[in-house]
Amino acid sequence: MFKMKRICHLIFRLLFLLDGGVWSLRNLSISVPRAVLAGEGQSAVLECSYDLEGAPLYSIRWYKSETEFYRYVPREMPPSMVFPLPGASVDLAQSDRNQVRIVNMNRRLSGDYQCEVSADAPLFHTDIRSAPLTVVDPPFRAPHISISRDSYARGDVLRANCSVDEAYPAPNITWIIDDHKVAETISWRASDIDFKERAAFSQLEITILEAEHYRMGITYTSSNLNKVYHDHYIYDKDMNKEDREILRYTVVPPTSGQFSLSCVATIYDIYARKSEPLYIKEDAPLPASVTGEDSSGVSAVCNAALIVLCACASLLPSL
Ligand SMILES: *[C@@H]1O[C@H](CO)[C@@H](O)[C@H](O)[C@H]1NC(C)=O
Ligand SMILES: *[C@@H]1O[C@H](CO)[C@@H](O)[C@H](O)[C@H]1NC(C)=O
Ligand SMILES: *[C@@H]1O[C@H](CO)[C@@H](O)[C@H](O)[C@H]1NC(C)=O
Repeated sequence: MFKMKRICHLIFRLLFLLDGGVWSLRNLSISVPRAVLAGEGQSAVLECSYDLEGAPLYSIRWYKSETEFYRYVPREMPPSMVFPLPGASVDLAQSDRNQVRIVNMNRRLSGDYQCEVSADAPLFHTDIRSAPLTVVDPPFRAPHISISRDSYARGDVLRANCSVDEAYPAPNITWIIDDHKVAETISWRASDIDFKERAAFSQLEITILEAEHYRMGITYTSSNLNKVYHDHYIYDKDMNKEDREILRYTVVPPTSGQFSLSCVATIYDIYARKSEPLYIKEDAPLPASVTGEDSSGVSAVCNAALIVLCACASLLPSL
């Protein structure tokens, strides 16, 4: 086995020398959009660039997950040849030695695409490059938030759910508080064999700080974005996993007595949709909040004022 390898290596070296030390296929690269929308009339242009250094081209072959769907052989007439792709077709008028255009995209066309270039005789140098493409079926509606309470008191814990309709692939969900991204649920798939649409879901637990804490200088921050990775295969079967997938964030009570909460569903860079924002108000915004005192402190002050009033009232007749 080892000997065979050495012999192959020698032959390889010899061919290289015969070739004048020049490979006649260089800089092969593939350019495929990371994601495109599904639909009739939706298309994707996949490009393949290479440098044959003057050598003639023998063939270009395009594969979708190892199955050839387009071939370009300049020596043949016509040079283009297509093979069936599930549900879609190749636009012959816009496909040639440098690109292939696929029309009527559907999500079954998601997967790895390969471009294989072969130089002509005598050496037939061949090389191949691969890149993934995802055909996206976006959710029908905007994401939706439900929340345990729509007002807060200091020290409260609010629980919010963001849910997104079925889509392919399942979207990522980002939580936004007052224009700051605060947490994210990343959808990832263990395997990509079925092309099923899936709903996405994210749970956020918001802790509202007590007055004493934020006096110590804890400030609003989004520097370390809290992330969870949500595997849909495991999630579907094992509901106990849910607890580990709860995102947590701590909010400093805003001086305005209100903050907004929304979530955004995104699929790569071609789909992003935001929920209606929820405005969450402090339960009983009191003027005392300016001094940083909580409501119990305020009522104590009121009671004290009341006692003084009563004392004055009881003193009045004797005056
Ligand atoms: C092609 O490859 C050579 C080296 O092999 C490099 O110097 C050159 O910049 C490349 N050209 C392009 C367009 O990438
Ligand atoms: C969020 O979803 C979980 C799990 O489905 C549910 O138990 C909880 O009641 C929901 N909370 C809200 C505020 O909708
Ligand atoms: C979700 O986010 C992760 C990490 O940023 C990214 O790699 C992935 O492509 C995103 N998925 C989608 C469907 O946008």
